[in-house]
Order: sequence, then structure tokens, then C-alpha cells
Amino acid sequence: MKPIQVGLLGAGVVAGGVVQVLQRNRAEIQRRAGRGIEVAAVAARDVAKARATLGSEVVLTDDFDALVRRPDIDVVVEVIGGTTRARELVLAAIAAGKPVVTANKALLAVHGTEIFAAARERGVAVGFEAAVAGGIPIIKALREGLTANRINWIAGIINGTTNFILSEMRSKGLDFGTVLKEAQRLGYAETDPTFDIEGIDAAHKATIMSAIAFGTPVQFEHAYIEGITKLQAADIRYAEQLGYRIKLLGITKRREDAQGIELRVHPTLIPGTRLIANVEGAMNAVVVQGDAVGSTLYYGKGAGAEPTASAVVADLVDVTRLITADPDHRVPHLAFHPDAVAATPILPI
Ligand code: NDP
Ligand code: HSE
Repeated sequence: MKPIQVGLLGAGVVAGGVVQVLQRNRAEIQRRAGRGIEVAAVAARDVAKARATLGSEVVLTDDFDALVRRPDIDVVVEVIGGTTRARELVLAAIAAGKPVVTANKALLAVHGTEIFAAARERGVAVGFEAAVAGGIPIIKALREGLTANRINWIAGIINGTTNFILSEMRSKGLDFGTVLKEAQRLGYAETDPTFDIEGIDAAHKATIMSAIAFGTPVQFEHAYIEGITKLQAADIRYAEQLGYRIKLLGITKRREDAQGIELRVHPTLIPGTRLIANVEGAMNAVVVQGDAVGSTLYYGKGAGAEPTASAVVADLVDVTRLITADPDHRVPHLAFHPDAVAATPILPI
């Protein structure tokens, strides 16, 4: 069967990760998806700009609008960011009947209701695992693994850049500006890092989790948002002396007393003995409290090219399974392919 053809919008950090992961793990991904997945073309504003992570094989185009409508494109991946152009292109792809995968939390937190209404109407899937907590499959956990639960609250470190800044300031005594520059160099920060350091990015992610957990429309405009820019090195030091760590948390919580939901992002003092206080660097950690399961903890890389690509490609595999008619790949089971078992023996100890 012909591989699924992907139209990739954007040629930055995440796009590079997607191309690399799809190329490196081509065989495994094909086996698991039931069909190959290929990037047919990458849309970039400046096709002449050197982009080492995309390799030499990709076809570049500067015509974003044409790419999302091309009949040979089966699925569109949006990794340009922002809420204006991204909204136009995602809606155009949906209108053309194409499933979309996006890593864009700002887009979904602000225009999610419109986008999902359009997708429902057109009967296409929109995957967004990469939009929350980078490589951690938290959307799958909320929508699938925990689906039997009444969720009471979710709290987590969901912005890698700010956690990296707080960690480096505490452990190495580095200043805010130096660490922010390093986070940008490493590909963790948003194009406009104000979104990270003012807590807006974490609020976008908390908004998305809140909507899934509590079955509400996205309500980003009602979130309380406080970032880390008012914190000083002395605050971090004093917290440490008292046995605490300061972490920027995103919290959403069901309030039985007031019949409503809390949605907030702010720096929080956490006792140093708690697991979440020891989540350092660009790592993320999310605790979800459900009535049946109790507290569950999800931990992993929250930003960067390949952790994010891991989630984008997982969505691409899901979309491929939906598109393919092969029931073998639509229903989860233990061995995806008998040859895989035969080819990889368990070694004696
Ligand atoms: P980059 O800035 O590295 O890449 C963005 C790409 O999109 C660039 O190629 C840029 O073009 C292009 N672009 C930006 N704006 C426009 C526009 N208006 N029209 C056309 N092209 C545009 O961003 P990332 O790859 O880091 O992030 C992409 C998305 O993924 C964002 O939504 C981000 O929030 C999300 N994300 C990022 C993560 C990360 O760790 N980096 C993690 C999880 C999600 P040009 O090359 O010309 O600048
Ligand atoms: N800027 C974001 C962060 C990228 O630092 O967490 C991942 O969503």
C-alpha cells in the first residue's frame, strides 16, 4: 500500500524532529501503523534558508495554501505556531477533508472550539498530543487510560523552559537572562518567550487538559496566569533554605463547593521531599487525580525537537490506523507483526 503522504507546515525545531524520527524509525512505524508514513513536502517561508535538521531529501515549498489542499496529501501537520496563520491553514485543511496533527497549544486553547466543531462537521480527526507536555502522552492518558474516572484535579509542571530556568538558577546560581537564552538555543522556548516566562504557554496547556478532563469548552480567557518574571534569585534561595522548591504549576480543579472549575498557573512552593519538587531541567510532570484510580503521575521531556516529534508521530500513526482499512492495526494487541517476535529473540542472562 502507498505510504501516507504528510504535508508538513513549518520548518523549525519540531518539523526537524518529525522528519528525523520518521526517517530513523521508518520500519517500526510502518509496522505499527500498518502503512508507511512519508513527508511529501515541507512548507517554509524561505525555501532558500539552510535547514540542517530536515536533511537533503525533503521537498520544500513556500506555498502553504496549496500544500494543505493538494489531492495527494493525506494528512497535514501544523508546526508553525501562532494563532492567525495556523488557524487559517488548519481550517483550510479540515475543509479539504484532511486530518490534521498539531503541536500548537495556543491555537487550540484560543480557537479549539471552532476547530473541533469544523473537524466534527467534516468528519476528520485532529491530533494534538504534542500540544501538552511535549513527549508525555498525557492527552492519551486523559482521553483513554483514565476515561472511566471522574477527574478531580490535574496539577503539573507543563512548561519546560520555565522549569529549566528555575532549575538552573537554583542549582548553578545562573541569572534569569542567561538561562533563558540557553533554553532558546536548545529549542525549548516559544518563538516569543514571553509566552513561557509569563505563564501563558502553561495556561494554554492547562486549558486543554481542563477541557478534556471536565468536558467543558476551552476557557483560556478565564485562566488566572502568573509567570516567573517577578521571582528573584533570593526567592529561590530562601525557599531552598526552608526546604522548599519553587515550581511553576498549571492547575485545574473541580470545585464541588462553588460548582465550578479552577484554572490557574502560578509559581508554587513545594516541599523538597515531594517527587514533583525534584523534576528538574526541561522535564515535565503531571499529576492527575481520578476518583477510581487515585493519583497518577506522568513524567518526561516536556520540550525539544524529538520529544515533541515523538508525540506528533504518535498522532500520525493513529491517523494512519484510522485511514487504513486493515482491522489488524485498528485494534490494539500485543504483537504487531509475527516477524518482529521471530526476529528479536529474548537473550539468556
Ligand atoms: P520554530 O520557531 O522553530 O518553527 C516554526 C516554523 O514555522 C518556522 O519554520 C517558521 O518559519 C514557520 N512559521 C512561523 N510563523 C509562520 C507563519 N506565520 N507563516 C508561515 N510559517 C511560519 O517553532 P517550533 O518548531 O519550536 O514550534 C512549532 C510549534 O510547536 C509551536 O506551536 C510550538 O508551540 C509547538 N511546540 C513546540 C515545542 C518545542 O519544544 N519547540 C514543544 C511542543 C510544542 P521560519 O523558518 O521562516 O522562521
Ligand atoms: N515552550 C514550551 C515549553 C515548548 O518550554 O514547555 C513545549 O510545549
